[in-house]
Amino acid sequence: MNIWKKKSLEQMLHSAEKSDLKKNLTAVDLAALGIGAVVGTGIFVSTGVGAHLAGPAVVLSFIVAAIVSGLCALSYAELATMFPVAGSTYSYSYVAFGEIVAWTIGWDLMLEYLVSSAAVASGWSGTFVGLLKSAGVNMPLAITRTPMAGGIVDLPAVAIVVFVTWILFEGIKESKKLNNIIVLIKVGVIILFIVLGVFHVSVANYKPFAPFGWKGVMAGASIIFFAFIGFDAVSTAAEETINPKRDVPRGLAICLGVVILLYVTVAVVITGMVPYNEISQNNAVPGALQRFGITWGAALVGTGAVVGMISTLIVMLYGQIRIFMVMSRDGLLPKVFSHIHPVHQTPNRCTLITGSLAAVMAGFLPLDLIIQLCNIGTLFAFVLVSIGVIVLRKTMPNVERKFKCPWVPLVPILTTLACVYLMSALPAITWISFVIWLLIGLLIYLLYGKNHSELQKEELI
Ligand code: ALA
Repeated sequence: MNIWKKKSLEQMLHSAEKSDLKKNLTAVDLAALGIGAVVGTGIFVSTGVGAHLAGPAVVLSFIVAAIVSGLCALSYAELATMFPVAGSTYSYSYVAFGEIVAWTIGWDLMLEYLVSSAAVASGWSGTFVGLLKSAGVNMPLAITRTPMAGGIVDLPAVAIVVFVTWILFEGIKESKKLNNIIVLIKVGVIILFIVLGVFHVSVANYKPFAPFGWKGVMAGASIIFFAFIGFDAVSTAAEETINPKRDVPRGLAICLGVVILLYVTVAVVITGMVPYNEISQNNAVPGALQRFGITWGAALVGTGAVVGMISTLIVMLYGQIRIFMVMSRDGLLPKVFSHIHPVHQTPNRCTLITGSLAAVMAGFLPLDLIIQLCNIGTLFAFVLVSIGVIVLRKTMPNVERKFKCPWVPLVPILTTLACVYLMSALPAITWISFVIWLLIGLLIYLLYGKNHSELQKEELI
């Protein structure tokens, strides 16, 4: 048995789900797809957490996180167009590095997709509860906070996961049109916040600008990176694009350009409105308007945010279900994960298991912890993606790449260093949890995956 055994390109294209989709997306569609996935809890809620770490210099944290995301997106887009299959980084690393690494990445990706689903739900809950509060309805703390935040269970977070799980269970797909409407709502309420908030900025709040120095800026960036997660949706859709070579970089540039402009402006306005250490960590953006008595504005922004965050949650949960499904087809996870419902045509059991896991995490784990875990896992996955680009240029030079990352190996090396630098700014507890998480994964592989792997079975035949 060889745990380093690699899949061939043919094996991967055969076993993974191929995207046999129409090529009808333009750069603007890609950008809208990206914005729909990206704008969520990160900006509406975590801006508060970032500001507490970095002070008004959280603006710089946003810029650092955006640069890292942009670099990651370039490498990711090359692999996404090279292997047009579901399963994301997991599928690529099966070919590039072999089974044990692929498993580790698949396991790690749970942090990006599953844990971020919980994080988005938790942020959704904070915004929703704030919204009710501004309407005069105060929900009891016990059922709106996790145990570590002084409650018993975060029930709204559980409820929203259950709702999205049901949508995915039924096989309801978000259409391009619906996504575009949601994007307009999200961007609209952010602009509304900026317009309403800018009149309440007082320059005194910007001093001191960076109370915790560069260390604080980096700590902020390591949290704020969460606000950019989801941009890989653009790379993944490359295969459905009319002209990927031209439109993927354009789509990414428009998406990241719009997002960074909105985020940085929100950060400038919010830290000018509210002293950085008083910005709400549960409901940052609407909370700032509420503070100035702009109740209708807070209500509108809050409503837009809770509607908009649902699309982010759909993307994240859907992504996790697809990854579990592909891993199960490879035999690394039990077959229950790839069972397809005869009527709904969806992996219904996998959907229920994934939804339940996300609901439990969202209900009981604190938002800052899950965001940190999600970020470390995602950054680690991007490190492997970047290394994968370099390795595959050597080992598979002839496979067609519809989009090529520029300046290889320079860009992937810079990306790797940038990701590792950002990971290093995360607290020790996150690292410890991450290592424990990977070790649990390794144990499961050794006890289960290795013995059930379809690839290993082929070797025995
Ligand atoms: N970037 C996504 C969010 O902020 C995950 O909610």
